[in-house]
Amino acid sequence: MSQAFEGDTMNLNAAVNAEDMRALARSALPRIAFDFIDGGVADEEGLAENRAAFRRHRLVPRYLVDVSRRDQTVEMFGSRYASPIGISPMGIAGFFRPGADLMLARAAAEAKIPYIMSSASCDSIESAMAEAPDTTWFQLYGTKDPSIVEDLVRRAAALKVKVLVLTIDTPIIGGRERNIRNGFTRPLKLTPGIILQGLMRPRWTLDFLKSGGVPMMENWKPYSAEKDASSVADLYGSQTPAPAQTWEVLHLVRRLWKGPLLVKGVLHPEDALICAKAGADGIIISNHGGRQLDKAPAPLDVLRDIRASVGDGMELIVDGGIRRGSDVVVALCLGARMCTFGRPAMFSVAAAGQAGAAKLLRLMRDEIDMTLAQIGCTSLDDLGPHRLTSSSHAALHA
Ligand SMILES: Cc1cc2nc3c(=O)[nH]c(=O)nc-3n(C[C@H](O)[C@H](O)[C@H](O)COP(=O)(O)O)c2cc1C
Repeated sequence: MSQAFEGDTMNLNAAVNAEDMRALARSALPRIAFDFIDGGVADEEGLAENRAAFRRHRLVPRYLVDVSRRDQTVEMFGSRYASPIGISPMGIAGFFRPGADLMLARAAAEAKIPYIMSSASCDSIESAMAEAPDTTWFQLYGTKDPSIVEDLVRRAAALKVKVLVLTIDTPIIGGRERNIRNGFTRPLKLTPGIILQGLMRPRWTLDFLKSGGVPMMENWKPYSAEKDASSVADLYGSQTPAPAQTWEVLHLVRRLWKGPLLVKGVLHPEDALICAKAGADGIIISNHGGRQLDKAPAPLDVLRDIRASVGDGMELIVDGGIRRGSDVVVALCLGARMCTFGRPAMFSVAAAGQAGAAKLLRLMRDEIDMTLAQIGCTSLDDLGPHRLTSSSHAALHA
């Protein structure tokens, strides 16, 4: 059930795109929380580059094609989804709105698209699977103690999670300078500045206090001797990132997990090939939304090289900077099967609960639909480089 407040709903009615959701979140959250979601690393070049990559492509419309019926459904790993979009995994969502993980899970289930729950979420994978068994995927990181990652895989298998995602792009945590400036540390020190931010966003602060303050990382609770939220978070922080991990973690997960396996955070075509050889079923091409290596390329810019490297056998998903349905269409033209996005989903749910997330997903679906109509395309199968100016003129005029 949506937990949008009346005020949320009024604002939500006025939102017409993903950027509006960001604006709503900016006015709902204290700066320390908004910046945690919004920020990248260092000079935030990677963050900007993710958007710039989409701006470099133009779709060329084709007219006088019957587009009265348009189909944007997509099949992946034996399931049909209503749109070629999904929600990227994001940790500590409950900090931005209590219950946010399950709101995202339910909104995705209603929209019939994948929601990738982070193992660093606040609600548990057990509760997400109880609410949204057909559309919830599960993401995990390698852990210093391999028995934890093994147990997370075992739990996902016992719950019959459809797709498992192993994120490999976090040998260490990137330098997130907004967080350093804002004093987003653990444990959080309540400086006068942070208290003032809380007073300026009373609804968020009240929600935060009512729910008991620092949210529990439910997936990790079983592994901690002390069961309070702070001790569980400490354990998480001591186990991830695991800088000594190697490709062995992928081999381990592949041995234990019999279902579809995606590797998230791949940018180099040779790493993509290693994933393929290790038996991964697909890749989420991602630079963690510009939150790890600031000089990393935009995922869109390495998509074609990765497709060329792994061939047609692997599912490729692009994540990072997707803010419009037309961005999704561009990525599909360049060889992706699906796109996922993070921040827009977190902003919508933080600002307006499940209703916010549901509206964002509707807007994205409608934009994909409008884009298909405008380019004279009735099915995702008809997308390809020939629809873009950046392919050659020869191909367009052939
Ligand atoms: C608040 C936040 C938390 C995130 N937590 C995780 C995580 O736990 N696991 C993970 O693989 N990626 C995580 N990411 C990265 C996202 O999955 C995704 O790669 C990124 O947000 C995509 O870029 P976009 O926000 O521009 O769509 C996080 C991103 C944000 C914004």
